[in-house]
Amino acid sequence: MEKPFVFGKAVSDSNFIGREEESERLRQNFSYGVNTVLMSPRRWGKTSIVHRVGNEVKTDKLLVVYIDIFSCRDEYDFYNKFAEQILIQTENRFEKWKDLAFDFIARLSPKINYSVDGGLNEYSVSLGITPKSHKPEEVLQLPQIIAQKKNCDILVCIDEFQQIGEFTNSLSVQKRMRGVWQLQENVSYCLYGSKKHMMESIFLEKTYPFYKFGEIIPLKLIPIEKWIPYIRKGFEMGGKLIENKYIIQICESVEYNPSYVQQYSWILFSNTKDTVDEHLLKRSLQDLIDENSPLFMHQTESLTTFQLNFLRAILNGIHTNFGCAEIREQFHLGSYSNINRIIKSLIDKELISDSDRGIFVSDPVLCKWLEQNI
Ligand SMILES: Nc1ncnc2c1ncn2[C@@H]1O[C@H](COP(=O)(O)OP(=O)(O)O)[C@@H](O)[C@H]1O
Ligand SMILES: [Mg+2]
Repeated sequence: MEKPFVFGKAVSDSNFIGREEESERLRQNFSYGVNTVLMSPRRWGKTSIVHRVGNEVKTDKLLVVYIDIFSCRDEYDFYNKFAEQILIQTENRFEKWKDLAFDFIARLSPKINYSVDGGLNEYSVSLGITPKSHKPEEVLQLPQIIAQKKNCDILVCIDEFQQIGEFTNSLSVQKRMRGVWQLQENVSYCLYGSKKHMMESIFLEKTYPFYKFGEIIPLKLIPIEKWIPYIRKGFEMGGKLIENKYIIQICESVEYNPSYVQQYSWILFSNTKDTVDEHLLKRSLQDLIDENSPLFMHQTESLTTFQLNFLRAILNGIHTNFGCAEIREQFHLGSYSNINRIIKSLIDKELISDSDRGIFVSDPVLCKWLEQNI
């Protein structure tokens, strides 16, 4: 039976709701070869929307390649992933590669693994690109070479792009990428990722290579009008009933984080026999917190006492003026100069975020877990 609510992986088809405006802008950019940058916190739906629109616009004349660079730790990790995915996703017959990129492949002895589980591609490959075998520019130029050979355009979508910012020689890598990519006539890019401050420094800082590389699209939250029919229908599919007021409570208690709305709805759905009531809603919220607790423990186990104290201050309603002496004393935050260090480290870990209203815990369910556990 089809699951009425989906979380923890990209959503498509009937599990994908809203986002009409952002989808339309992506569709235009993808079709006309305009570079695009998409930013949002984790699990707001970047991968889902890019795959959905990418699959919609792809044709024989516009190939779409998806690359997830979450696991890339350095420059050549990236080049290997980049070249492997470009090759696999633009040509699924290995024998054809030599026509496409003979010179590129001839210097390597690629290892091919045929997959038996029938995944996205029939095989995977490790190319073994090294600084000895290829210059960065050659690798970065690969999609343009393939596009010309195949007489088509290529859209390259790179997920978890913030990872680039973690490379030791990040700026010079960014410079090389931009230098090559901006001259490619048949290739456009959609670069997307989380870690707001990292993405912002890559794309918004005037002195950085990717400044003004493409149109920046922020992802908005999905409004209540979209959630109500979706959640109600999910319950109805299982012969269960939920009143609108409870749907509103679900959305509000997780601050409209789409992944949590779906997970909370799923837990509530499982806990409900036929009709949702206040008690079930409350119990399911606690289940939601408990189910995520191993993750939260992992996220917080290495925090210093100062960092934990800072989170305590936030939970006590302090969102600004952390430097003021009374607050520092009350919550044991150390010296004035310590404050910026704490804030920076917690932002780096994506545990807190900064807004015009002050500093808040980024994850609404983590916030509830912290209230119960620190
Ligand atoms: N358009 C959408 N409609 C409904 N749920 C969504 C939508 N986008 C995201 N979600 C929910 O959020 C989760 C995370 O989505 P994902 O695309 O993986 O986010 P990101 O790539 O930003 O981390 C999904 O599993 C789903 O539960
Ligand atoms: Mg993602």
